[in-house]
Amino acid sequence: MPSILVLNGPNLNMLGVREPGVYGTATLSEIERSLTATAEREGASLSFYQSNHEGGLLDEMHAAYGRHDGILINPGAYTHTSIALRDGIAAVGLPVVEVHLSNIHKRESFRHTSMLAPVCVGQIAGFGAYGYELGLLALLRHLRQSAGPQ
Ligand code: DQA
Repeated sequence: MPSILVLNGPNLNMLGVREPGVYGTATLSEIERSLTATAEREGASLSFYQSNHEGGLLDEMHAAYGRHDGILINPGAYTHTSIALRDGIAAVGLPVVEVHLSNIHKRESFRHTSMLAPVCVGQIAGFGAYGYELGLLALLRHLRQSAGPQ
């Protein structure tokens, strides 16, 4: 059974309260509950971690090595700044899918660049909370395809 780590970065603990016009009204717990149901249907297991600290996210990413098969990450604002998280992804070598609730490409220009995207399998942006489901399905499909025919 594939095991996926779901990482959420700074301010995502405030979902539901935080700029609902941009990020929607679902809380992080609601998103995690819905992802858990999707994972059960897909035969995958999930672990969740949210932190407002870059180092905490990085430690969890390192701990995923040898323990999880892939990472689904919404790095929040660290998307646009964190060479450390990018290097962390490259270091652990796990497949990573980047998710954003908002469409970062149609927002302020400082959100148009993702430091992490070049080391991710792909990026999903602009579909709100549903993007997490899409990201999980895409990651599981990627893992199945890389495993090859059984
Ligand atoms: C975000 C987009 C980022 O630019 C922002 O800093 C966030 C949330 C999103 O999910 O749309 O914190 O990652």
